[in-house]
Amino acid sequence: MIELRELSPEDGIEIYNMLQEIGPGENGFFNDGYNYSFDDFGKYLLDNYNASREIGLKIGHVPQTTFWLVVDGQPVGIAKLRSYLNAALRESGGHIGYSIRPSERNKGYGKKLLKEALSKAKVVGIKEVLITCHEDNLESRNVIEANNGKLEVIKEGHCKYWIKLSE
Ligand SMILES: CC(C)(COP(=O)(O)OP(=O)(O)OC[C@H]1O[C@@H](n2cnc3c(N)ncnc32)[C@H](O)[C@@H]1OP(=O)(O)O)[C@@H](O)C(=O)NCCC(=O)NCCS
Repeated sequence: MIELRELSPEDGIEIYNMLQEIGPGENGFFNDGYNYSFDDFGKYLLDNYNASREIGLKIGHVPQTTFWLVVDGQPVGIAKLRSYLNAALRESGGHIGYSIRPSERNKGYGKKLLKEALSKAKVVGIKEVLITCHEDNLESRNVIEANNGKLEVIKEGHCKYWIKLSE
């Protein structure tokens, strides 16, 4: 069974271990959970839970909801969904960022994660989703194109893809 589950302040060691495996992030995906000790992990969870509800947002940040891709009860990936774009996200970041833990890559989970994240985007009323990625990140481009991403432009090594969500 595969589900995209929203971050909860009650999440525990399984999620923590996945974020440690993912590391600080790569290819423009930033994993802010990596820098926490397990003792402080509750603060990461609460801050991100609140950020989804527009509580305590840093200046210039938009509301963002964090999800875990869970396969047969085991977390394999993370997605961040931004509720709307600001000028910075329009250039880099877009609506959705994601990562699959290294030990679970190339099993189709990236494609599945983006598909599920697009359903969540639709629920919050987004009509067209922007995803940005490095030009040489072929794995991610594959994932985006498999989910109907249309390449708008490649500028200075960065791709901008748009995905229209059906009515
Ligand atoms: C991008 C990422 C999420 C893909 O996750 P994944 O679970 O491995 O993705 P999938 O298995 O669903 O699909 C990957 C596709 O890329 C292909 N692929 C894998 N390695 C590749 C490579 N070096 N060059 C080209 N294509 C490659 C796979 O064959 C697969 O396509 P296929 O199903 O048509 O064969 C994962 O690599 C990751 O977490 N990367 C680090 C973070 C990141 O880059 N996030 C995206 C920021 S935009």
